[in-house]
Amino acid sequence: MITLKDNTFKQLRDFIYEKSGIYISDTKKYFIENRLGKRLEERKVGSFEDYLYLLKYDTGNVELNVLFDKITTNETFFFREVKQLDVFVKDIVPMILKDKKSPKLRIWSAACSTGEEPYTLAMMLMESPSLKGAAFEIFSTDISESVIKSAKAASYGQYSVRNVPESYKKKYFKANSSSEFLLSPLVKSKIKFMVLNFMDDRKMKAMRDMDVIFCRNVLIYFDNKAKLKVVTGLYESLKPGGYLFIGMAESLHNTTKAFRPNIINKTLVYQKA
Ligand SMILES: C[S@@+](CC[C@H](N)C(=O)[O-])C[C@H]1O[C@@H](n2cnc3c(N)ncnc32)[C@H](O)[C@@H]1O
Repeated sequence: MITLKDNTFKQLRDFIYEKSGIYISDTKKYFIENRLGKRLEERKVGSFEDYLYLLKYDTGNVELNVLFDKITTNETFFFREVKQLDVFVKDIVPMILKDKKSPKLRIWSAACSTGEEPYTLAMMLMESPSLKGAAFEIFSTDISESVIKSAKAASYGQYSVRNVPESYKKKYFKANSSSEFLLSPLVKSKIKFMVLNFMDDRKMKAMRDMDVIFCRNVLIYFDNKAKLKVVTGLYESLKPGGYLFIGMAESLHNTTKAFRPNIINKTLVYQKA
């Protein structure tokens, strides 16, 4: 295994932070050494110093995108943190529809990983009487190209679908001979997937007029400065009065007071004031 010197680790860590907002603490040096060591071997790069050079002068960001794939944690599953999803469908959607002027609900699953979150939202909306036939669109984004590719393929293992209610499984999935669950084309057609890095101001500015944003279980990877940058961008992307869900274990308490915290059915939902 190629050794990562402390000094080079710090340079690599700073580079990753600058490009993605992901903060890697000193205690995670082994993680970088392991995950990127294999990549160095694949690319036949002899040292981490050379790899850093390759990243910095990489034209077209090819290696940078591989780096993002390697360092991100993409854990997710269908019907994750279901209390929030219920509040979304049963409380938030009817409130939005009540005083809505535009014909379509606009939802953004930000940092969607392999797609389980946006697909869950789509299925729940399709099943919900509260939608009353209103149209919706779900934009889904992630920094990692490879997770967006798997999200589009929409073929899932048992672990991912373990919380899917039986009635949804029957209606919206088909199991194949390798025990994978293939999602129905109808649900797939409801989602627009894109690669988007929260640090990319130009792409962030293009995400506008959202009614609801889900940005769950990603803020934990950022330090407070990067977290503030991300949530400020999300704030700008919401319509006035729009809603933001972050992960159940996450908080904006020490980050910003821009959002109004609402408790709906014992669940915290942030709202653009
Ligand atoms: C743990 S997953 C969360 C997936 C889903 N939101 C959920 O709660 O199940 C975190 C995702 O954040 C993405 N991510 C990390 N840094 C990002 C950035 N700077 N911009 C956009 N996505 C990022 C990762 O690629 C990863 O797929």
